[in-house]
Amino acid sequence: MTSPNDQAIFESSPDGILLVDASGVIRRANAMAQKLFGYPAEALHGMAVEQLVPPSARGAHDEHRARYQRAAAVRPMGIGMELRAVRQGGVEFPVEISLAPFEGPEGQDWTVATVRDISLHKRLRDFGAGALRASEDERARIARDLHDDTAQRLATVLVRLKLLEKDIDDPDTLQRLDDIRQAITDTADGVRRIARGLRPPELEDTGLESALRSHARLLREGRGVDVLLDVEPVDRLLTPDGTLILYRIVQEALNNVVRHAGVPQARVRIRVEEEQIIGLVEDQGTGFFPQHLALQGRGLGLLGMQERAVMLGGDVRVESLPGQGTRVRFRIPVEIAEELGRV
Ligand SMILES: Nc1ncnc2c1ncn2[C@@H]1O[C@H](COP(=O)(O)OP(=O)(O)OP(=O)(O)O)[C@@H](O)[C@H]1O
Ligand SMILES: [Mg+2]
Repeated sequence: MTSPNDQAIFESSPDGILLVDASGVIRRANAMAQKLFGYPAEALHGMAVEQLVPPSARGAHDEHRARYQRAAAVRPMGIGMELRAVRQGGVEFPVEISLAPFEGPEGQDWTVATVRDISLHKRLRDFGAGALRASEDERARIARDLHDDTAQRLATVLVRLKLLEKDIDDPDTLQRLDDIRQAITDTADGVRRIARGLRPPELEDTGLESALRSHARLLREGRGVDVLLDVEPVDRLLTPDGTLILYRIVQEALNNVVRHAGVPQARVRIRVEEEQIIGLVEDQGTGFFPQHLALQGRGLGLLGMQERAVMLGGDVRVESLPGQGTRVRFRIPVEIAEELGRV
């Protein structure tokens, strides 16, 4: 921090920056750190960094800090954990923290920590997760209504038609009744198909693979797209909600193939590799520039996939180029998926 230029950058950084010495004492704090934590510079300088950690996490923090100092490197803090900090007055807020070794003015081993307030981000994410959860509940309700009410009523109408047919001898009328029966049967099939699409019953009964098989059959019969499935039984690593989230990711990726790729084939592969569920939905179709989507403000489906993967602590990557097909890859850490997969 010698030249005024460095000082200006330090002070105007949009992230809070703390320089912490080897004994855990804050030696410097920039303007954003003062704002985030609600202390003036004089109060922060010389304060134990533990004081910015919520009381419930202080014991563990001491230990983590010692461990970090033994193997200092540039890295985010608390990977996979929801970090919280505490401001003056005791209010806690969610943060993202990155650490790097830093040489103090006399060559001491200090640490530089950047602190970012992610309250808004987290609120938006929670809101997104809430909206997804609400939409799953709604789908389940509509599927139940369609199945238990509409489909049942249609079945009753069919029975009554059958009874009516017994009382009729005129072949012409019988033929017309038969046409009506066929139309009702088709409608009942359609209703069941819609209900299955909304909430596949196999998912709870026989598992992910058979639900995907059933969806693949639907796509083959309804849309002429053949889906090659190579799916390990990863359900056992997920909660039922987690399995549903995974199913939705694959379903959306396949729907995209059907709607946009322009080819009659797709491939789905889901495996477990090194404590992660690794998935791939691939087609050899038209492809597109994924990075252009954000600019055009399009792509709710892909965004939803990403949101869902994040709910399970993982992520989704889309690899595509015009003329070279599309690969949607997702990755879900198993141990985190178990904890977070509750929608
Ligand atoms: N497999 C694919 N092959 C070709 N283009 C694709 C594929 N998947 C996505 N795209 C392109 O990416 C765009 C965004 O996809 P996304 O699923 O996010 O939205 P959408 O399918 O257009 O609408 P919806 O919100 O109903 O899903 C699509 O409009 C399409 O141009
Ligand atoms: Mg889509």
